[in-house]
Amino acid sequence: MPPDPSFAPTQLAARAAYLLRGNDLGVMTTAAPLLYPHMWSWDAAFVAIGLAPLSVERAVVELDTLLSAQWSNGMIPHIVFANGVDGYFPGPARWATSALAEHAPRTRHTSGITQPPVHAIAVQRILDRAKTRGRSTRAVAEAFLDRRWDDLVCWHRWLAECRDLRGQGRITLYHGWESGMDNSPRWDSAYANVIPGAVPEYQREDNKINTDSTQRPSDTEYDRYLWLLEEMKAVRYDDELLAKTMSFAVEDVFVSAIFSVACTVLAEIGEDYKRPSADVRDLYGWADRFRAGVIDATDQRTGAARDFDVRADKWVATETVAQFAPLLCGGLSHDKERALLKLLEGPRFSSHPDLRYALIPTTSPVSRDFRPREYWRGPVWPVTTWLFSWCFARRGWAERASALRQEGLRQASDGSFAEYYEPFTGEPLGSMQQSWTAAAVLDWLG
Ligand code: SER
Repeated sequence: MPPDPSFAPTQLAARAAYLLRGNDLGVMTTAAPLLYPHMWSWDAAFVAIGLAPLSVERAVVELDTLLSAQWSNGMIPHIVFANGVDGYFPGPARWATSALAEHAPRTRHTSGITQPPVHAIAVQRILDRAKTRGRSTRAVAEAFLDRRWDDLVCWHRWLAECRDLRGQGRITLYHGWESGMDNSPRWDSAYANVIPGAVPEYQREDNKINTDSTQRPSDTEYDRYLWLLEEMKAVRYDDELLAKTMSFAVEDVFVSAIFSVACTVLAEIGEDYKRPSADVRDLYGWADRFRAGVIDATDQRTGAARDFDVRADKWVATETVAQFAPLLCGGLSHDKERALLKLLEGPRFSSHPDLRYALIPTTSPVSRDFRPREYWRGPVWPVTTWLFSWCFARRGWAERASALRQEGLRQASDGSFAEYYEPFTGEPLGSMQQSWTAAAVLDWLG
C-alpha cells in the first residue's frame, strides 16, 4: 500500500516545482530550507537538472552561481554560503577559507573541500532540454556553455591532476563529506585512524533541527569531521600539503566512477558544440584513466568495487552502494558485470524481501553495518536512485532505468520530498522539502 497521501504525477510535479520555488533565494537554491540553508555543490547540479524542465534560464543561473564561487585552482567547493544566513555549522567563520586559502574566491564565502563531480550531467540535461525550446532559450544554454566551458574543463583538470597524485585513476578525498556519503560504513576504518587533537569548541546545529539522533551522524563522528577541518586549515588548504598531512586520505571508487562518466559526458558536449579538440582529448583520456582505476579497484572474483585507504595502505570492502560503481561507468567483463547486476538486484540489495520499494539501500540490509534510519548507513536516497537510473539509461539498460524511476516515483508520491527514506517502512527521514529530491522527481516527470 502506498503511504497516505499519495499524489498523482501531475500534482507531484506541481508540488516539486513549488518546493524549488520556495527554496530559491534568487540566484541560488538552498539544499533544504532549515537543515541546509546554503548551496551545496552536487545538490546544485541536481537542482539545475530539476529546474531545466521548468526554466532553462533559471537552471543556468544556478550553475552560474556555483561556478562563480569556483576556486582559482579549479576546485568547486562543496558549500557556497548564502550571504547573511546563519543556522548551519560549520559556517564561513569556522572554515576561514577567505583568510587562509590562496585559491579561495574573495567575493564569496565557501567551504574548503569538494563534492562529487556530477555537474557535466547537469550541463547535458540543460542543453538537451534547451533543444526542445525556442531559439532564445537555446541561445541562453549555448551562451552558458561558451561562458563556462573553460571553468568546467578546469574543474575536471583539477580533479584529475590534484586529486589523483598517484595517477591511479581514482579520486582521493581528504574528508568523508567530500564523498557526499558522510557517515557511510565505507569511511569507518579510515575515521578510526583519525585521532582528533584539540578541536576548538563547537556546537552542532544539525541536531537542533533534526532532533532524532538516530537519523544523523554521531558526536564522535562530528569530532573527527571537525578535526579534519583543523588539519586543512593548518596547511591553508594547499593541495600538495593536504596530500602529505591529512590523517584521512581515501581513494573513493564511487566518486571516481562518477568522474569517469562526467568526463565522457563533457567530452561529448565538447564534440557536439565544437569546443577545442585538446580539451575533448583530455576529457576522454581522463574518462578512460578513471574507468580503468575503478576496474582496478574491483574484487577479482565478484567485480564489486572497493575504496582504497591511502594512509593505511589497504583496500576497504563494504557492503554499500559504492560496490556498484563499475555499473555506472562500465569497463567490467561481461560475466563480472552480470554477477554485479545480480548482486544489486538480488536479496542483499534491491530485492531484499522486506523492502517497501525495490530500490537500492545505501548499505545492504544484511550487513552488520546497516542502520535503517541513519543517514548514509542504510536509508534509500532518491538522488542515488536518480543517478543509477540515469546511468543505466545511458548504458542502454532501459528496463532497469525505468524500473528504478517507477519505484523512485512511488516512493516520492508521499509528497514529503524527504532527503532519505527508511527502506522497510518507507518513512520519510532527514530533511523534508529537500531540493534535490524534488529535482529528481521533476526530471523523471519532465
Ligand atoms: N552533509 C553534510 C552535513 O550534513 C555536509 O556536507 O552537514
